[in-house]
Amino acid sequence: MEIEFVTATVAAAPKTGGARVVFEGERHEGLLAQAVASSRFTGGKGQTLDLIAPDGVDMAGGKVARLVLVGGGKREAFDAIAAEHAAASAYNALKTSGLENLRLELPSTDAAVAARAGLGLRLAAYRFDKYRTKEPAEKKPSIQRAQIVTGEPDAALAAFPPLAALADAVSFTRDLVSEPANVLYPAEFARRVKELESLGLEVEILGEPEMTKLGMGSLLGVGQGSLRESQLVVIRWNGAKDKKAQPVAFVGKGVCFDTGGISIKPAGGMEDMKWDMGGAGAVTGLMHVLAARKAKVNAVGVLGLVENMPDGAAQRPGDVVTSMSGQTIEVINTDAEGRLVLADAIWYCQDRFKPKFIIDLATLTGAIITALGHDYAGLFANDDELAANLLEASKAEGEPLWRMPLPEQYNKNIESPIADVKNVGGPAGGSITAALFIQKFVNGVPWAHLDIASTAWKKPSSVPTIPEGATGYGVRLLNRLVQEKYEG
Ligand code: BES
Ligand code: MN
Ligand code: ZN
Repeated sequence: MEIEFVTATVAAAPKTGGARVVFEGERHEGLLAQAVASSRFTGGKGQTLDLIAPDGVDMAGGKVARLVLVGGGKREAFDAIAAEHAAASAYNALKTSGLENLRLELPSTDAAVAARAGLGLRLAAYRFDKYRTKEPAEKKPSIQRAQIVTGEPDAALAAFPPLAALADAVSFTRDLVSEPANVLYPAEFARRVKELESLGLEVEILGEPEMTKLGMGSLLGVGQGSLRESQLVVIRWNGAKDKKAQPVAFVGKGVCFDTGGISIKPAGGMEDMKWDMGGAGAVTGLMHVLAARKAKVNAVGVLGLVENMPDGAAQRPGDVVTSMSGQTIEVINTDAEGRLVLADAIWYCQDRFKPKFIIDLATLTGAIITALGHDYAGLFANDDELAANLLEASKAEGEPLWRMPLPEQYNKNIESPIADVKNVGGPAGGSITAALFIQKFVNGVPWAHLDIASTAWKKPSSVPTIPEGATGYGVRLLNRLVQEKYEG
């Protein structure tokens, strides 16, 4: 979608749907007052009131074909996130109206708010439609362009590029996560990441021979039942003044499809496991935005890309593998594969890059959905400052996180009778024992683990900036974290 920032004096183009964001309890005049009085619209957050033919109702700069009032909620609470959501609600209300232009009026003339509204529009307008060959025209979104009315169009335009870069990166992640597993297997994922070198990223791809040499028996064991070669992808962005400065590091679980392996999953809903690479997708999106906005930071992304399949060559429950760290792992359940991938990817990352911190992202456990529902991701951390910074970034970007504990005493649940550790800890506290397992492969660096199994994919969405499907969760959160705390 094209976005323009204009002043109220610029006339609306033909075929324009107007959207005006109003506050709760705001008074209206004339026909608008009548319309509001004869509806349940109060200006509450997320409400819309669609006025098809507002004859005599003017929008700044002239007539519009249709006017939607959008509830902005309480005036005091109207922050950047609220502006984003209001803009997205406006888009959603007019998306398939048949109109091609959207003109958005915000109850603030602030340039930063206008820019964030632009981000909201871009995120709401995301769509994964490459495999729809027969969609009737009337079902396709009609809105192509948006004009955002603001008192300071030049300042809004100047503030927009980093947000546009963020929207592009979130879209890139959403595309990766939405792709079916017959299309996006590890080598294809790696190829798409390699293409991001055009943004200035450096991308290295390690195949099975290289990983074998490094001793990554834990990661390789997961992929050994697949016809697709496992890949480890290293993405680097060196934007700091001192190119040798210690980097920040992000590691993503990239299970391109998770059947469960020999501990196979039930058929119902198994198709969801195409998005078991959501962690790797988010790390890719993060590196994308850091490069696109030329962030002044050195950052490393490591992706562990595998496919977990049952096969004659697949690993068996009871197998013992040796990880790159030297620790041996008894694989009790081949469906607890994400942690096996992360064990080697994290070890490799800290061993090679000696980063300031490591944050891993993974669609790791169904248990995190049981614990937190679909709005929150789980945060586990061995470092309070890193955890606090993540929680702060999470609030500012509207990507909710909830900190979970790492109780030392639960480690007994993952003791193995024959190896250093086993890969499952029983049904109690499943997300916690998964995190404790990963912690065994963290060697002293500040570390945080985000279990995003709950947030990587939305069924019918309640957040207006997230259409149903892949959310891109994590890209915004981590971009904000880096921007606020680690650039300069
Ligand atoms: N990829 C799944 C976790 C998952 C479940 C993600 C639902 C998204 C939605 C993970 O590999 C897995 O299978 N975890 C098991 C662990 C168990 C075997 C200890 C789980 O959560 O059931
Ligand atoms: Mn699994
Ligand atoms: Zn998995």
